[in-house]
Amino acid sequence: MHKDQPMIITLDGPAGVGKSTLAKDLAGYLNIAYLDTGAMFRALALHLGPGSWDWSEQRLQSALRGIRWSLCGDGPETGLEVNGVQVGPEIRAEDVGLWASHLGQRQEVRSFLQAVQQGIGSRSSLVAEGRDMGSVVFPRAGCKIFLDAAPEERARRRCLQLQEAGHTPDQAALAHDLRQRDQQDRTRAIAPLRPADDAHIVDTTALSLQDVEQRLREIIHRSFPGITPQPKQPE
Ligand code: DC
Repeated sequence: MHKDQPMIITLDGPAGVGKSTLAKDLAGYLNIAYLDTGAMFRALALHLGPGSWDWSEQRLQSALRGIRWSLCGDGPETGLEVNGVQVGPEIRAEDVGLWASHLGQRQEVRSFLQAVQQGIGSRSSLVAEGRDMGSVVFPRAGCKIFLDAAPEERARRRCLQLQEAGHTPDQAALAHDLRQRDQQDRTRAIAPLRPADDAHIVDTTALSLQDVEQRLREIIHRSFPGITPQPKQPE
């Protein structure tokens, strides 16, 4: 990596594997921005509405042209703005995740978001999380990580997360949605979910969050020898 080039770390994996938590942890550890590309697909799905994945190419292209993206905040607090408005927790609903997965099958959408993501990564060091960050969007990233875990374990974790947020999730329905999204994300024709050939693969099924955080930090140090954690400067 050239010393003036942004440092890019990619974190890919299926739904519910813990990417967001771990990406935020790394972004905080290194004090660099965090790019949640799933949130981009979700925000787009919510903005365009259900059924938009079946729109004609022309209608979809013209809707995409009117959208501006930017980041706000920094480190683990990095947020996403669509047309100047910060994206909120409404994108986290399970059905919005499924809409995002449908929309992610459209080439027009992937090309559009890929250009936005690469633009952000050319200006700023990033921990970029998603499905195709290492394999397609940032093929020259200095460190690529692919997280995986058994589907039942991912459904259990997602359930716990929702319970902690005050919801009463149906674990069987969650597991069903997760499997549907997995199948769709792994088998789509364009940019399917898969590890890049040079990705570090970490199976987190039997690991605690602390163990995974530790393992990822070790991978980062091996990928960028000499790097030192950058604690946030007091304002
Ligand atoms: O990471 P997430 O669960 O918030 O993502 C929601 C959906 O968005 C996911 O099921 C597929 C799609 N997505 C994608 O196709 N490519 C990405 N880089 C990120 C998300």
